[in-house]
Amino acid sequence: MILAVLRETHPGERRVALTPDVAKRLAGQSIEVWVEAGAGAAAGYADEAYAEVGATMKPDRAAVCSGADLVASVRAPSDIDALSEGGAFLGVFQPLSSPDVVNGLARRKVTSFSLDLLPRITRAQSMDVLSSQATAAGYKAVLLASTHLPKFFPMLVTAAGTIPPAKVLILGAGVAGLQAIATARRLGAQVRAFDVRPAVKEQVESLGATFVQPDEAVDAEGEGGYAKEQTSDQQERTVAFLSQQAAEVDVIITTAQIPGRTAPVLITEDAVRGMRAGSVIVDLASETGGNCALTEAGETVERHGVTILGPVNVAATMATHTSQMFAKNVQSFLGELLKDGAMELDFDNEIVVGTCITHEGKVVHERTRQAMEGGAGS
Ligand code: NAI
Repeated sequence: MILAVLRETHPGERRVALTPDVAKRLAGQSIEVWVEAGAGAAAGYADEAYAEVGATMKPDRAAVCSGADLVASVRAPSDIDALSEGGAFLGVFQPLSSPDVVNGLARRKVTSFSLDLLPRITRAQSMDVLSSQATAAGYKAVLLASTHLPKFFPMLVTAAGTIPPAKVLILGAGVAGLQAIATARRLGAQVRAFDVRPAVKEQVESLGATFVQPDEAVDAEGEGGYAKEQTSDQQERTVAFLSQQAAEVDVIITTAQIPGRTAPVLITEDAVRGMRAGSVIVDLASETGGNCALTEAGETVERHGVTILGPVNVAATMATHTSQMFAKNVQSFLGELLKDGAMELDFDNEIVVGTCITHEGKVVHERTRQAMEGGAGS
């Protein structure tokens, strides 16, 4: 079994799908690893580090793909035709909204897996790339906020007076939100959090934050622990409640998402207008439209005296560790695909069915097929 690792081509992508440490572990399982030259450089993993653990370095894309049984990269390569016809590929390529990539993979008769579609089941936790990468995003969002806020995060008692702690509001207490809460608490801020799933209250409180919610319930817990869209009445009440909250805090970190949908707008322009001058919003949902009405994806803007950051691909800014976590996710996922060192697909395995997008020239993933028939992303 030969596993090839690509150098990423997506602009700004610094991660690599496999680190030397994981390459070494795979070698112990009789998996030969080939690495495209420079693949790990931006994440801090030199070619020599791969070579030292027994991986074979290949000079370019054509050389690394030719003869490999399975090709891995974080994102889909921009040159899908470089993948060998009839081969296999795994990465994260948002198939529900990327019909061109899916069609390209089907045309090349590539058996492809997209790890962003892993089912959220206990058995799949160790392969959950969305969680591992969201952890980094939640952490980094707080650090970004702290560097833009013209205030301290912790309470300080100094000879020059006492500084009160910063007040931070986190919207959405999934993986990113919980890590943002923990990070803001470590920096000494007073933290409050809101989520439409009341089930997270206990988790929020266990991290030392306060769970806040409107007086009337706005529960929108959907299937599998995910949120579903709120009704328009619930949404209105939530927005009004969050406008009051916004006026009381120095920092808002937003992480609220609903799988496959545009992010809900929770902070309106009026809410921004009501915030204290110098306050900061970091909108982690900027890539799916933003939780703040004034967010501009990839930009930092100042509106009504408030600094609003819409960072994209935050995980790539911490590429050393996010690649390490991604690689562990990949290693764990390979356990579902391989038997005795060879690829043996079991279409009764919900992890395989949930992530396999194309096979033998067809789009075999039901939701992807439906999204493509509905014209998503085209
Ligand atoms: P996510 O990134 O999909 O969403 C972030 C958070 O935003 C969620 O907590 C969601 O409830 C919240 N949200 C959505 N709409 C909102 C609104 N209008 N206002 C406020 N908050 C809103 O979430 P993530 O991090 O992917 O986690 C979702 C669930 O999946 C959690 O229960 C998590 O524990 C679970 N999970 C399970 C895994 C497994 O078992 N393999 C792996 C990862 C997560």
